[in-house]
Amino acid sequence: MIDTGIGIAPEHLAQVFERFWRASAARSYHSGGSGLGLVIAMTIAQNHGGEITLTSQLGIGSCFTVHLPLS
Ligand SMILES: Nc1ncnc2c1ncn2[C@@H]1O[C@H](COP(=O)(O)OP(=O)(O)OP(=O)(O)O)[C@@H](O)[C@H]1O
Ligand SMILES: [Mg+2]
Repeated sequence: MIDTGIGIAPEHLAQVFERFWRASAARSYHSGGSGLGLVIAMTIAQNHGGEITLTSQLGIGSCFTVHLPLS
C-alpha cells in the first residue's frame, strides 16, 4: 500500500512496528491512534509465515508491502 503522507524518518522505520509507538505529536500524521495497527498487521503476516516491509521518504510518502508465502 502506497500513500503520499508525511513519510517516516529512517530512524523510525523499525519503531512504527512496535506496540504503542507513535511519532511525536508535532509530526503525528493524525491524532487518536493507539499505536497498535501496524504491530497487529505485522503479527498477522508473521503468523502466516510472511512479513511486512516498509520504505518511506519524509514529506513524500510511505510504501507498506505485505509478503505472504504461496504455500
Ligand atoms: N502511513 C504512515 N505514514 C506516516 N507515519 C505513519 C504511517 N503509519 C504509521 N505511522 C506512524 O507510526 C505510528 C504507529 O502506527 P500504527 O498504525 O501502529 O498506530 P496508529 O496509527 O497510531 O494507531 P492505530 O492503532 O489506530 O493504527 C503512527 O502513530 C505514526 O506516527
Ligand atoms: Mg494506524
